[in-house]
Order: sequence, then structure tokens, then C-alpha cells
Amino acid sequence: MKIAFIGDIVGRPGRKIIKENLGRLKSIHNIDFVIANGENASHGFGLTIKNASELFNTGIDLITGGNHSWDKKKDMIVLLETKAVIRPDNYPPEVPGTGVKIVEINGVKLAVINLMGLYTMPQVLNPFTHVLNLVEKLENENIKHIFIDFHAEVTAEKRILMQLLKGRVSAICGTHTHVGTDDQEITDGTYYVTDVGMTGCRDNVIGMESDIPIKKALTGLGGHFNVPNTCKSVMQIVMINIDENGKSFDGQKIKLYDNKNEVLSQAIIN
Ligand SMILES: [Fe+2]
Repeated sequence: MKIAFIGDIVGRPGRKIIKENLGRLKSIHNIDFVIANGENASHGFGLTIKNASELFNTGIDLITGGNHSWDKKKDMIVLLETKAVIRPDNYPPEVPGTGVKIVEINGVKLAVINLMGLYTMPQVLNPFTHVLNLVEKLENENIKHIFIDFHAEVTAEKRILMQLLKGRVSAICGTHTHVGTDDQEITDGTYYVTDVGMTGCRDNVIGMESDIPIKKALTGLGGHFNVPNTCKSVMQIVMINIDENGKSFDGQKIKLYDNKNEVLSQAIIN
């Protein structure tokens, strides 16, 4: 089974570069299933029904979220109920939707889990104890293919999750910081990267126009962050090959620039 994961899609430039490239990448690399983090896909904040269907039409199969999942709350509730859209599973149980989706790919079950970290994030349940229970439940159901999008600010939280779950899940991909890290590894059959990095504008402040963040940094006064309409953009996608026992054996990342330059990097296998 070959799955792909696209990091935080930020606004229209992010949606555009995916529309232009995902179909081609899927066929060149024989990708069976595409997951993407879409919490910033609608002008940087949340996900609308319209933009979700635009993303599904590009070939994305399932959309995960994070701390911005509720920025377009009305639309999100509809999406969670009707589409392949999930939000972090460690929100308290009374919150709508789910953070786990089990899909079937060529007769094999894949569980996709969305989790959120603690530091600088909204109040959620402990992601570590939560995911241990969850993985145990999936193992009892004999589900061996498990993918986790861990949406967290702090590198150490992501490393902790890897150390906690290596050998028990197929992949752990970090999201949220918007900056891709170069530490892809496969250890005991678990693919890991601290952060996939965003898909969107790359010539400003993590996908947003620079003026307001700069003003905020200099004066402490905030304002509404905007996604530019035109910019230099980047698409960041990881591709993971998983064997029949749920063990990853090959991992690659493509960083694709709007000038058509493509950087491919390979996960080290431990
Ligand atoms: Fe986020």
C-alpha cells in the first residue's frame, strides 16, 4: 500500500499548486491513497465546504485538521458529518466529529488518526495516553496499517510520540509549524517526520502576508492575517510504502516549487 500525505494546505495558493500537480504525482508514483491537512485551506483559517470539495476533486481522499479546524465552524460540522474529514481525536468526547477514520484500500484496512499536541494548543485530552488506548483498540481489531497526523507545535512532543509508538504504527507525520524538517526516518517499520511543512506561499511568514506579523512583532499589536493572492509557492508531500503487515519500508518526500524545481529526499531506514 502506498499512501501520501500533504502538510498544512494554506489558502488559495496551496490549493492551486495541488490542483496543478497532484494528479501527475499520483500516477507517476502509484499512490493509492492521499491524506492532507486542510485546517488552513480556506484563506488560512479553517475549511469551507466549497474548498473541501475542490480539494477532493484534485485527488485528495481524506482531510485532517488541528487547532484551526473550527474556524469555519458551521461548514466544519457539516463536513465532519458527511465527508472524509476528521479533526484531532483528543478533543473532549462532546465535540462533534471524530479523529479516527478506517478506510479500505484494495481490501486492506487503514486507520487514519488525527491528534493534537498540548503546548500552545487549545485545551485537549492528553494525546499520549489517548493514542495508546486507541492503538491498542485498533490492534485488537487486527488493524495493522495505522497513519497518524500529529498536529503539534513542539518538536519534543512529536519525538515522544515516535518513541512511544515506533514498531506499532505505520507512520507518524507532524504538522502545524508549516516548516518542513529534514529528519525522515523509518524505525522498526514506523515512518516518521517531525513536520511535513506547508503547501502554500513560501516567500512570507509561514504562508501569510508579512505586514501584519511584522507589525505584531514590532509593536505587540495584532491584526487579521491574510494569505496573499500571488506568491512564490511550494507543495510538500510525503509518500510512504507500507507492507502487508503494516510496516513501512520506504519513505520519500517531494518538495515541489512553483518554478517546477523538485527536491526529492529519502527516509533513512534504521
Ligand atoms: Fe495548526
